Amino acid sequence: MKIKRTHNCGEIKKELIGQTISLNGWVENYRDHGGVTFIDLTDRWGLTQIVFDPSVSGDAHITAQHLRSQDVIAITGMVSERPEGMANNKLSTGGIEIYVSDLEILNKSKTPPFDIHHADGVNQEARLKYRFLDLRGHQLQKNLMFRSKVTNIIRNYFINNEFVDVETPILTKATPEGARDYLVPSRVNEGKFFALPQSPQLFKQSLMISGFDKYFQIARCFRDEDLRADRQPEFTQVDIEMAFVDQDDVMGVIENLFKVLLKEVFDKDLKLPLPRMTYDQAMLEYGKDAPDLRFGLKIVELSDVFKDSGFGVFANAIADGGFVRAINIKNGITSLSRKDLDEMTPFVKTYRAKGAAWIKVNEDGPQSPIVKFFKDGEVDALYKKMGAETGDIIVFIADKASIVCQSLAALRLNFADKLNLIDKNELNLSWVVDFPMFDKDGDGNPTPTHHPFTAPKPEDEDKLDTDLYAARSNAYDIILNGTEAGGGSIRIHDNKMQQKIFSLLGIGEEEAKEKFGFLLEALQYGAPPHGGLALGLDRILMHFLKTESIRDVIAFPKTQKATCLMTDAPGSVTDDQLEELFIESTVELEE
Ligand code: AMO
Ligand code: AMP
Repeated sequence: MKIKRTHNCGEIKKELIGQTISLNGWVENYRDHGGVTFIDLTDRWGLTQIVFDPSVSGDAHITAQHLRSQDVIAITGMVSERPEGMANNKLSTGGIEIYVSDLEILNKSKTPPFDIHHADGVNQEARLKYRFLDLRGHQLQKNLMFRSKVTNIIRNYFINNEFVDVETPILTKATPEGARDYLVPSRVNEGKFFALPQSPQLFKQSLMISGFDKYFQIARCFRDEDLRADRQPEFTQVDIEMAFVDQDDVMGVIENLFKVLLKEVFDKDLKLPLPRMTYDQAMLEYGKDAPDLRFGLKIVELSDVFKDSGFGVFANAIADGGFVRAINIKNGITSLSRKDLDEMTPFVKTYRAKGAAWIKVNEDGPQSPIVKFFKDGEVDALYKKMGAETGDIIVFIADKASIVCQSLAALRLNFADKLNLIDKNELNLSWVVDFPMFDKDGDGNPTPTHHPFTAPKPEDEDKLDTDLYAARSNAYDIILNGTEAGGGSIRIHDNKMQQKIFSLLGIGEEEAKEKFGFLLEALQYGAPPHGGLALGLDRILMHFLKTESIRDVIAFPKTQKATCLMTDAPGSVTDDQLEELFIESTVELEE
């Protein structure tokens, strides 16, 4: 390489006019105009227009004729002002161009399989297979540089607040966070497996017992679970743990982190403290534990209005222990069509609801297929409760709690989308607190709502024996635009309580010892009260960057089927390798 750059492709401004500079970069495109060749030269800082004019250098002009998109070149030339009317105000370098006197071709490129700077319509498979090229595109470069900036602010924040950055093992034992483990066979320990961490949970608790007091880590986590738009099998947590704290202390640290982030990244002032809502309120008013508070459409409980309703569907649902709840779509009569209303039924059936009823609040009375069944006074009581005004449409679901919640939560989001109620520029942060300790799993057995190391609220400890599902924990989630951006809890630091929780979860003494022996042991050697939280960094970046897919914020993401198309992982291994690991496969691989 003879020509080394003196500048990058994003920094040359009018102040440099008249100077001779050198640039390295990739050919984005080329155009010929009246015997002169124009090329956009790019690198990660930006784009500079370079000009090959035979009157400046005949040799460079001739060589330039052979340049194609994505060739790598080095040039030297004079910075010149663009002619009248040719400036491009959208570009930081749009006022200048470089007249090339010397050109060196550093490497040629094959024709790329797609236009890397306009890859929006290109199929994902091609983009993931050629990820090294896709990452050369302006948008993904911007995203990853943004990620680097955010990570750096986060690191500085914790270091400035006296947190210690500790790396924890990747080859470890199962850490229960509710997903399947990725397993790694051990060659030197016949028949034994490591698990990749679903989170550093047990290590960070162990570090508190060791006295580190304030820990943080930007930690990679691995979960073998069904993937969605905001889920990857390996993802990154901003993981923290603190000793001698209560819930407010941990929440305060995270709130301040977001305040710093919003200020430094968007120059926005975040008002603290963030709003808090209990889990019960979130489920009742928003139908889910991660409520999107960017718009209204709150769910209203109507069981007292309809418990003796003339409409059998409502009265029966309540008599069976269920609920009738509704949302009020303000001015729905003008904004929704009959088709929109008809489409609700198949939509809510995917959430196992039997139907979705509606009432139009017309000037001359309610209009609906169901009001004819109502008794006197039901409509008035309903309108009062819903704050109904002429023009509104009220939408109901009657069923058991879980179905009502899921269906109305989904309808809420669906209508918000349809009616454009969401300000896409908003970053709405809030907390959900007071989660129940346990949920029922599919078989009706208790499963931890957060994880089995979460402490019950001291005032609810008695309920562990008397009313298990009513016992609440000191767990808290931070919600960003209706998604769970992070979650944490105050932990159990008492060996007896930890054993009790294991036994409530059906984990016997032997199993507890086998799986979490070191924790139970460590809790007996001066474990301080402690608690923490983990943020889903990738998810937060998605919201900051307003992208729909988690893949847009991860350099080398996996597909829906948890494969990496660029490296072709996971791949097959030889029989010898398997044998060395004491593994016999039952899979018949195609030749
Ligand atoms: P939790 O399981 O809630 O808590 O995880 C914390 C946050 O990580 C993000 N997240 C994910 N992001 C992308 N892809 C995934 N597959 C994925 N799974 C989770 C979410 C979630 O809120 N050890 C506890 C934390 C603690 O108690 O301190 C834990 O891991 O944004
Ligand atoms: P039907 O009596 O089945 O004709 O239903 C009358 C209206 O009530 C229709 O709009 C249905 O979609 C609606 N509906 C039926 N079951 C329910 C339910 N469980 N909750 C709310 N609406 C329902």
